[in-house]
Amino acid sequence: MSQKEIGVGLLGMGTVGRGVYRILNDNKDGIEKKTGAPIVVRKVLVRDTDKNRGVKTREGLLTTDINDILNDPDIDIVVELLGGINPALEYSLRALDKGKSVVTANKDMIALHGKELFAAADAGKRDLFFEGSVAGGIPIIRPLKECLAANRITQVIGIINGTTNYMLTRMSDECLGFEQALKEAQSLGYAEADPSADVEGYDAARKLAILASIAFNTRVSLDQVHVEGVTRITAEDIVYAANLNYVIKLLGIARDSAEGIEVRVHPTLLPKNHPLASVNDVFNAIFVTGDAVGDVMFYGRGAGELPTASAVTADVMNAARNLVNGSTGMIGCTCFESKPVKSMGLTSTEYYVRLDVADKPGVLASIAYIFGDNDVSLASVIQHTTGKSAELVLITHEVLEKNLQEALTGIKQLPVVNEVSNVIRVEGRKEG
Ligand code: NAP
Ligand code: HSE
Repeated sequence: MSQKEIGVGLLGMGTVGRGVYRILNDNKDGIEKKTGAPIVVRKVLVRDTDKNRGVKTREGLLTTDINDILNDPDIDIVVELLGGINPALEYSLRALDKGKSVVTANKDMIALHGKELFAAADAGKRDLFFEGSVAGGIPIIRPLKECLAANRITQVIGIINGTTNYMLTRMSDECLGFEQALKEAQSLGYAEADPSADVEGYDAARKLAILASIAFNTRVSLDQVHVEGVTRITAEDIVYAANLNYVIKLLGIARDSAEGIEVRVHPTLLPKNHPLASVNDVFNAIFVTGDAVGDVMFYGRGAGELPTASAVTADVMNAARNLVNGSTGMIGCTCFESKPVKSMGLTSTEYYVRLDVADKPGVLASIAYIFGDNDVSLASVIQHTTGKSAELVLITHEVLEKNLQEALTGIKQLPVVNEVSNVIRVEGRKEG
């Protein structure tokens, strides 16, 4: 005999909400067989019930009143796809309080309020699933929490923002300008409502805070993540990087060491033969290293309607299956350690430094002297004369960030240096 229907209330029918609605309808039969009960969307919360949703919806499905969902005893799972903190947080907490399971793709809410949401889910013995919140369609939360649980994870490095990866690919392959590339990413539904979260690195930082907290069993808050976005990356940097056999990617890097953890998001030069260098367009990839498993890489579409909805719908199915079985699911909060975060000055990488300098004898020697004086050793130098001035592009060996910064402070004061045009970290020469 078939189980009772599992009722779903969707909060939001934008890019991802529409995708979830579509998958639940299009793959209904398989979903029911795999879950053990039919899953039915009973209500959808939106701001504007007259807006064209691009999908057929039955009369009365859309509502602007959250109480139609929270007070409906036949809604077992609330799927939060509004975005932002409020009212998403308030509605999710109220849903858990009413004994409903919650599924969300909202990294802002999980990164900032995960602790209270987990506590509410625990108290109500309900599920709180958030696979879609990091890297869209790629399975990464459940693999970290479950499949790799036996490991001590030492690093998580990823391309975890689809918008900026799409933009950097278009800027590199088609020589598109920054604004044009961003417009394309927005029209494809990849960008956040406010795309500054994507281009300034905050979207990736929220995802990295979530990944690092799970990977290292310690609570990493957003303000502990060092964040630099892609807004200073120019066509010149992309061309110089290519000529030196590198690509530029926005990376999220989390590493665990005896001195503490590193959590940073910034544009990075990667050798063209690095596994993450060929991850293009909206694709995301996450490279995880565990002490038992070694290196594992996860790859797929990091944003967009159906890829993200694939992760969200699977979470809905898991929550539904648990309701059918009378249990709760995935391991909850695992932040049982309290690890310090290393200051950026104590991290060490190689650097790409682009300088605009006077084109006359002795300039390179005076710059090299300041680098040497601060223990910064140079791996390569290229010079390009641009008319009145010259452009110097230097790659350093691995150095402490604080030494590099001190050297740059001195170099900026040299009368022959017009500008430090850009400084970008270089990673992965050893793995490449
Ligand atoms: P979206 O296209 O902007 O859709 C948001 C939906 O929420 C809309 O249907 C909107 O209603 C509704 N809404 C927003 N505020 C509301 C309020 N106060 N009351 C009632 N309805 C409200 O957003 P999205 O791209 O689907 O993203 C949803 C979530 O998924 C976000 O947390 C996002 O970070 C996350 N996510 C998105 C992607 C992606 O590729 N887009 C990927 C991974 C994760 P109206 O339509 O009536 O305005
Ligand atoms: N704006 C996000 C991105 C959506 O581009 O990756 C997925 O979280």
